[in-house]
Amino acid sequence: MVTRVVIYGVGPIGQLITRVALDRGYDVVGAIDIDPQKVGKDLGEVIGMGKTLGIKVEGDADKVLKDSKPDIVLHSTGSFFDRVYPQVMKAVKAGADVISTCETLSWPWYRYPDLAELVDNYAKNHGVTILGAGVNPGFVFDALPAVLSVTLTRLDKITVTRSLDASKRRYSFQKKIGLGMTLSQFNEALSRGEITAHVGFAESILLLANIIGLKLDRVEEGQEALIAEKRYETQYFKMEPGQIKGVIGHGSGFIGGKEVIRVELRACAGCEDFEEVRLEGEPLITWRSTGTAGDPATAAVIINLAPRVLSARPGLITLKDLINYSYAVLALK
Ligand SMILES: NC(=O)c1ccc[n+]([C@@H]2O[C@H](COP(=O)([O-])OP(=O)(O)OC[C@H]3O[C@@H](n4cnc5c(N)ncnc54)[C@H](OP(=O)(O)O)[C@@H]3O)[C@@H](O)[C@H]2O)c1
Repeated sequence: MVTRVVIYGVGPIGQLITRVALDRGYDVVGAIDIDPQKVGKDLGEVIGMGKTLGIKVEGDADKVLKDSKPDIVLHSTGSFFDRVYPQVMKAVKAGADVISTCETLSWPWYRYPDLAELVDNYAKNHGVTILGAGVNPGFVFDALPAVLSVTLTRLDKITVTRSLDASKRRYSFQKKIGLGMTLSQFNEALSRGEITAHVGFAESILLLANIIGLKLDRVEEGQEALIAEKRYETQYFKMEPGQIKGVIGHGSGFIGGKEVIRVELRACAGCEDFEEVRLEGEPLITWRSTGTAGDPATAAVIINLAPRVLSARPGLITLKDLINYSYAVLALK
């Protein structure tokens, strides 16, 4: 039987998810978005396929979900679960499983423990599964180092560094890291929540720790602006020297006052594309890539996990429920 999919959020990420879903033979039966530029248009037109799909993007989520009866909803409208959970609840009420790119849903017990419990119970009562996933949280800072750690006989510390050239990323990414702002505009916009920069350092750290069986005492996170030393220009923003060219963000997990997990993201115009995972212990391992293509990779992760979510237990689950690394439990010194 072909899986029936509703796309909830047809922004750049929802558009990529739609394309991969169609390529993989999923039956895309509905699309929901509130952007007036998209509502009423054919989904094929919105995602730039050059042909219609016979599915209108609609703003009334309850109606779309009731009429289209999806098996699974692929959700990508926002980063903060306390803001997007009513959308997730609508999908649950309609009896559909949900995978969302909402970063804070990847480990919702960190920021929203009460909400996580409420939504978990609601999903269980409706017999459906909810997962927050993506490329980060969802791969680079958590699943990837968890997999790599299995070859160490003793693990002392995990450090993951991700560097990416923001000029290759979508408009909404470039905007949320403050490209072209002055430092005071950046700090004010970040403190008012008008821009978020990267969301999910703590969630990735807790996900990683839980996958490999570590009990952290404390998690910290923060981010600072990177200032342009020369003129930069992307498809969407111009940066003069002294303006913001990107961010450097970080998170740390501690056991007994010792930093045992460190993740760092450097995202700026002109930054090199790479990821490096350094595993200190026995033996010492350094793994380096030429960079994961964040946006298509997010869509791939969502679609590749869909079959696992469709057959998973009901409730709010995490990647820890889907990737069995129990053999990777390691004692930190
Ligand atoms: N976990 C990961 O690795 C990962 C990776 C990539 C992206 N993300 C996250 O995924 C989300 C989507 O990314 P994006 O770049 O596509 O974001 P975006 O450009 O903001 O697009 C989101 C779309 O959803 C629509 N929307 C907002 N609220 C809605 C609602 N209540 N009902 C229906 N539609 C709604 C937006 O409409 P308006 O524009 O009118 O608001 C927009 O069309 C972001 O929060 C991003 O941070 C996570």
